[in-house]
Amino acid sequence: MRCHAWTILCAPIALIHSACSGAETSLLFPPGFMWGAATAAYQIEGYNTHSDLWDWEVKYEQRSGAAANSYVLFDEDAELVKRLGMGVYRFSIEWARLEPRNNEWNAEAIEHYHEVLRSLRSRNIRPMVTLHHFTNPKWVYEIDPSPWENGEVVREFEEYVRLAAREYGSEVDMWIPFNEPNVYSFGAYGIGRFPPGQVGLLNPTERLLPVMQNMVEAHVQAYRMLHEVDTADADGDGVAAWVGVGQAVSAIEPADPDSAADRAAVDRYARFYVWLFPDAMARGNFDSDLRFDEAIERPDWAGSLDFLGLQYYSRLKVRAQEGLLDPLNLLPCASEGALTQIFGVLGCPAPDLPKTDMGWEIYPEGFYDVVRQAWERYALPVVVTENGIADQTGEKRAPFIVQHLAQLHRAIRDGADVRGYMHWSLLDNYEWGSFRPRFGLYSVDYENGFARELTAGGAVYGEIVGANGISSDLLNRFGSDDFR
Ligand code: BGC
Repeated sequence: MRCHAWTILCAPIALIHSACSGAETSLLFPPGFMWGAATAAYQIEGYNTHSDLWDWEVKYEQRSGAAANSYVLFDEDAELVKRLGMGVYRFSIEWARLEPRNNEWNAEAIEHYHEVLRSLRSRNIRPMVTLHHFTNPKWVYEIDPSPWENGEVVREFEEYVRLAAREYGSEVDMWIPFNEPNVYSFGAYGIGRFPPGQVGLLNPTERLLPVMQNMVEAHVQAYRMLHEVDTADADGDGVAAWVGVGQAVSAIEPADPDSAADRAAVDRYARFYVWLFPDAMARGNFDSDLRFDEAIERPDWAGSLDFLGLQYYSRLKVRAQEGLLDPLNLLPCASEGALTQIFGVLGCPAPDLPKTDMGWEIYPEGFYDVVRQAWERYALPVVVTENGIADQTGEKRAPFIVQHLAQLHRAIRDGADVRGYMHWSLLDNYEWGSFRPRFGLYSVDYENGFARELTAGGAVYGEIVGANGISSDLLNRFGSDDFR
């Protein structure tokens, strides 16, 4: 069995013994490492009728309806977090509930989230609160039909953040103003999957960059607002507000590893998709022409991240293609369902790794790469704010968790300052159009009172959380050959 140098240097003496004796914990995480799980309001609460997605959903396979009924069952959900020994719960507040009409604040909804926070606090669970997770109040389109493109919504978002900071600041220290601004801007303004349904991807500089710029602006203002208003240290660790972004990241690789053009395209795509938001928020480096020349265009934005949240699921291959998505000149290879064949004709290799129920390749090594890259790029504390698997059978979740956490441990051992891991998701939920993908540590029986049941993967995660590490037994049962 292995005993890593990191373990010897950092672990408390009592744990060194178990780490090195070969008996129990083999890969130990740093003391105080935050273990948790994540959810999003729209995906679990149910009946978010004032949100823009509510009417839009008619286009999807299924409607969200009562979702996982968590607006009602929030206390039970807090108990689920506790049952696995987790110390953090990442969830989101639904803006449209707090402000169902412009400048009209809903007292019942405001009180509801106080109740959620109290329910967590009574169980010693620290909240990590997302303020925007893909949805907006419907009324933002009354102000402007393309709100994030034209920017009117930035001021409105700021008002909402001020309210949240004032109301909840004494109960919350960890804040995430935006979940996956890259996925949201793509989804809503790039490929038209979310409202307002714009398709601007083919012309990213004209159609997507303004959206991204407005979202960075809104993040920076939220960052300042949260630090200004939330001066109460809720958990007594000396920090009143700790603000990050939940950034979607992928392991990006060339369609043809021998092609220099594909390798260069990987670099362009990674800068655009993975690093554009954190580059702007951490360094003030916003590339408004997508020429990637390292120009610092917005020094006033720099320093607006206290931590970087990484959300890792899979890998993506990229192929160089002159004239496509100009000036990026590339094709990001889709690897889902029927698209795989179409993209195959265009020169994208078929996925060759085992896949999740979403069709995403399972690639734990890429997790190591991305965490290392993020740490080396910014030297900011990293929190894994999402990582998980759609798995109907429940058989793939335990190996997924063990193998990804083993890679995360390797990244930490190699120097990355990773503070925590939030599994996506605490429970099965509405996966933006369908209930079929099942991401939960707990399954939800939608036909039977939304009963929650621990999955096999959830039990394994609980074991890891309890030990603050991965035992040699779990590595033997579920790990890849490198870690057995
Ligand atoms: C999102 C979640 C989503 C998950 C799985 C992330 O992109 O933040 O809302 O459910 O991935 O698709």
